[in-house]
Amino acid sequence: MKALVYHGPGQKAWELVPDPMIENPNDAIVRISSSTICGTDLHILKGDVPEVTPGTVLGHEAVGIVVATGAAVTTLAEGDRVLVSCISSCGRCRFCKEARYGLCTGGGGWILGHTTDGVQAELARIPFADTSLYPVPEQLSDEQVLFLADILPTAYEVGVLNGNVTPGDTVAIVGAGPIGLAAILAAKLYTPGRIVALDLEPARLTQATRFGADTTIDNGHEDAIARMLELTDGLGADVAIEAVGVPATFELCTELVRPGGRIANVGVHGHPATLHLEKLWIKDITITTGLVDTNTTPRLLQLIVDGKLDPTLFATHRFELGETEAAYEVFANAGANDALKVVLSAHPVHLEPRAAKELLTA
Ligand SMILES: NC(=O)c1ccc[n+]([C@@H]2O[C@H](COP(=O)([O-])OP(=O)(O)OC[C@H]3O[C@@H](n4cnc5c(N)ncnc54)[C@H](O)[C@@H]3O)[C@@H](O)[C@H]2O)c1
Ligand SMILES: [Zn+2]
Ligand SMILES: [Zn+2]
Repeated sequence: MKALVYHGPGQKAWELVPDPMIENPNDAIVRISSSTICGTDLHILKGDVPEVTPGTVLGHEAVGIVVATGAAVTTLAEGDRVLVSCISSCGRCRFCKEARYGLCTGGGGWILGHTTDGVQAELARIPFADTSLYPVPEQLSDEQVLFLADILPTAYEVGVLNGNVTPGDTVAIVGAGPIGLAAILAAKLYTPGRIVALDLEPARLTQATRFGADTTIDNGHEDAIARMLELTDGLGADVAIEAVGVPATFELCTELVRPGGRIANVGVHGHPATLHLEKLWIKDITITTGLVDTNTTPRLLQLIVDGKLDPTLFATHRFELGETEAAYEVFANAGANDALKVVLSAHPVHLEPRAAKELLTA
């Protein structure tokens, strides 16, 4: 088969590799029909995730068809269409029993495209298949469910649920990339009074409005704290969701939030941020952090079935699987290409006017 193989910092190739085989009785082999690229894959390629060893197939988000199952797999069969999630669950450890799959100590957690071969490939071996794959209802397209593999449960669980978004709340979402935009969709399920999106990029703020933000703030050019106080009778936001992952935006969240408010950190941080306890101790602030567990995937899937959630808004570019390298070029320059998520499809796709080849030759 062919797959996108990591060859060390800055190096990757779409190349021939051996087909994956059933290695453990709870494995399934999935023929990938759609996959996508995550910002985390770009971090891996920069060398920021050293536990990914050269030779690993990247990718942790996909939809596909089960083509083989190990002897211990009981709930899936050849021909089943499934969502492959970024988080795998052994189903047996203490954390999996508490539905904290992200913390799995039994060999699951984030393993695909990390410590084992991933899903930017024609075929993938999925360990713990019964507890890690989600059957996809027939009436849903790949693009309707693909973003349930990572960004939607992340924004929903680590942003909206941890932040305890409640009807009427003013919700500040700092960062309007795929995660921040997914947080807008998820927050809207709770009828907040106002969603305020903050970003430095005008194109991302335009996207935020498209996804349902009521107000946008370009915090590179505007005084974000003054605007937030103006919007909330001098109090601040009820909930601030950090969806960037740099010290400045975490610290901004602590200034945007009202006394008694909640800060839900979603961003992955590479550097320490300053916690101004000398100002915050008296404000009754709740701060949460977390890795996605994906235990809300079935609930989010049901919302899509019921037409209450439309994640297809994220698909800005489409490529064939064999064009994965070109797709990385577009995604790595997301700003210039106004890209949110690129869809890699195993079937020949109708390329939209703004698609790959055109952008690359522009
Ligand atoms: N906790 C988890 O389980 C989890 C899972 C997936 C991703 N993440 C993290 O979530 C974060 C967001 O992911 P993404 O894919 O949307 O990233 P992204 O890089 O696509 O988007 C980040 C956005 O933040 C904006 N930004 C940058 N600096 C800013 C600033 N100072 N003020 C306001 N906006 C600023 C950028 O313009 C961009 O639009 C990342 O740190 C990612 O690693 C966390
Ligand atoms: Zn990811
Ligand atoms: Zn486990």
